[in-house]
This record gives sequence, structure tokens and C-alpha cells, in this order.
Amino acid sequence: MNNKLLTLAIILSIFSVMVACNSSKKQVMVKSEKFGSFSGKDVYLYTLTNKKGDVIKLTNYGASVVEIDVPDRNGKRENVTFGYDSMEDYLKGDLYFGKVVGRYANRIAKGKFTLDGQEYSLSLNDGVNTLHGGNTGWHSRVWNAQILENTDFPAIRFSYSSPDMEEGYPGNVEVEVVYTWTDDDEIVMDYKVTTDKNTVINVTNHAYFNLHGVGNGDILDHEVIIKASAFTPVDSTLIPTGEVRKVEGTPFDFRTPHTIGERIEQPDEQLILGRGYDHNFVLDEAEEVDAMAYDPSTGRVLEVITDQPGIQLYTGNFLDGTQKGRGGKVYNYRSGLCFETQHFPDTPNHADFPAVLLTPDEPFVSSTTYRFSVRK
Ligand code: GAL
Repeated sequence: MNNKLLTLAIILSIFSVMVACNSSKKQVMVKSEKFGSFSGKDVYLYTLTNKKGDVIKLTNYGASVVEIDVPDRNGKRENVTFGYDSMEDYLKGDLYFGKVVGRYANRIAKGKFTLDGQEYSLSLNDGVNTLHGGNTGWHSRVWNAQILENTDFPAIRFSYSSPDMEEGYPGNVEVEVVYTWTDDDEIVMDYKVTTDKNTVINVTNHAYFNLHGVGNGDILDHEVIIKASAFTPVDSTLIPTGEVRKVEGTPFDFRTPHTIGERIEQPDEQLILGRGYDHNFVLDEAEEVDAMAYDPSTGRVLEVITDQPGIQLYTGNFLDGTQKGRGGKVYNYRSGLCFETQHFPDTPNHADFPAVLLTPDEPFVSSTTYRFSVRK
């Protein structure tokens, strides 16, 4: 073989090794399987595996997180989020586990708001109020799904077109969320929402976490930090009163670590109204990590990083053990906690809260990361 041919052969073999590596990388990164169907649309379960071998599972029903398998300090992997085994279970079960909720996450008082001089009425699905976008909010829709190619990490884009006046909200709205599962065990959630008419939006992910591994007890021993100097107190229907109250000297001060259980039963008016923690925290600006939970028994740590102004800490106060999730695990009272990154509840009726107006001129773009690690 002359020199030129030899060089060509070497280049070709390097190229084919690169192609093989690349394609095998892609093959193992995201696997999809049929999960069921709903409303005439196919629903899939997607398994995303990172280089550590840690796994998350997602579905395009409600753009949900179904499972998060991460190690404890001894390397034992367990699922730390709530989800169901089948589409049938999702249809029978709790509406919000791991779902993207919208158009308006959290509550709108009496299901009414006024925008540009016009009053809008929403369905009342939480007593006298509207919760998480109404009866058929984004949690109950089949989203389009696209597995992203040529990314450094496994990633999927879910998108949904919400027609004008869906659930009573104005504007044709396009929403997408890109989930990326990094090699540092981070779920990065990148949201983008656009509209053709002025409207209001508030999107979040409603994942429940139990760092013991779900099904292994409650979350009362989880140590939590929330970098928030204030919170928004609620009335008896969990609607903010409008006050922004300092956390100092209250059971809502999580600026230094406290377990959930330490103060949750105190005879504090707000804890009684919330049946525990079910409140929006007003995040301090310029904090790199906005919230954290640590389980001393397994060493698992969850950090939350967001560009949103608030986090709803919800301690599973409405869970009652009637829901059985993946692998038959029972979801008991306070056996999961949520860090719902968001704008404040009922903002359309509170001019002083950070605005939630979405106009055709500028998309809403936002990012939240849930990062898992262990402490030795
Ligand atoms: C939370 C809300 C709770 C409860 C839960 C769903 O976001 O703050 O009050 O409604 O969703 O069960």
C-alpha cells in the first residue's frame, strides 16, 4: 500500500470509529417505548441515561417526570420521585405528580381576573378557586415530543399548542419545555411560552421528592434550606392575602437548615391554614442555589436553581395513602415534598406581585434545575 492509500485508510478507520461511538452514544442516551394513548394520541415513556448510568424517565402525557433513579452515599440507586407504572394509573390517579402545570400554576382567586379591561372566568376546580390551570390544564394534555439529537446530554423537547380561551384564558399559546439530564445528575428544565394576544401564564413542574427513595417513610426528617427572607401568607382557601411577610422569627425561616418536621406542628396560624407548609417563598435575588433538601440517612441531596421569583414549598399535606405509585409504593401523608418554582400565586389579582403578563412581543423564557448529589 502506498503512503497516500495508507493515510486514507487510517483517516477512514478513525472516522468510522467516531461514527460508531457517536451513534452508540445516541442509542443508549434516550430510549422510548409506548406507554399508552389518550385522546387519540400516543403516549410514550422515555428513558434518559447519563454517563454515570443514572436514569430519569419522562412521558409526554403532561410533559411529566415519571422516575428519577439516583444513588445514595453507598451507590445504591433508588427512585426519588412520584410517578405511576402505566397510563391507566395516570388517568385514575393524582393529577399533578411530576407534571408541567399551566397555564397558571397554583391558585387564582374565585377563578377570575381582569386583563386589559376585560374580566375572564376560569373553571373552579379547587373549592371556590382555580388550581393549576383548571380541570383540563396542561397536566392533562398529550404533548408533542422530540428527542434532541447531537446534544451533549440526553434531552427531550415537549411542546403543546393551547388554543385561545382554553380553560378560559385568552390567546393562542405555544409552550415548550426541554428536559436535559446532565452527567452531573441535573434535570435542567428550560421553558419557553409565546402568545398571539396578551395573557397571563405561570408554569412549573409539580414533581414530588422523597430522598429516602419513595415509599420509604415520610419527608419530615429532610433538612431543607430555602433562600427566602419573605413568604406570602394565605387565607383559608390558600390564596395569598397580598402581604409579603418576613420569615424571621417564624417557622418559615429556612435560610439556615431545618428539618421539615421540626416546626411543622407548631400552632402557627399560617401552618394551620396550610395544613403544614403549602406556601410561596419570595426568593432572595442573586443566590446561586435557591433551595435544597438533604436526607441525612441516605446522604442524598437535592438542590434547586431557578430564575423564577418564588418557590412553593408543599409538604404533601393532602396525600392520604390512597395513591399507589411505581412498583406499588404507597404515597402516604407527607411522604413527598415539592419545590414548585414559580411566579406568585394569584398574581393577576395582585398588582404588587412580580408581573405574569405575557405579550406577543416577548416570549416567556425560564429555567429551573434540580440537581442530585450525595453528602458522605
Ligand atoms: C400544590 C398546592 C397544594 C395542592 C397540590 C396538589 O401545588 O400548593 O395546595 O393543591 O398542589 O395536590
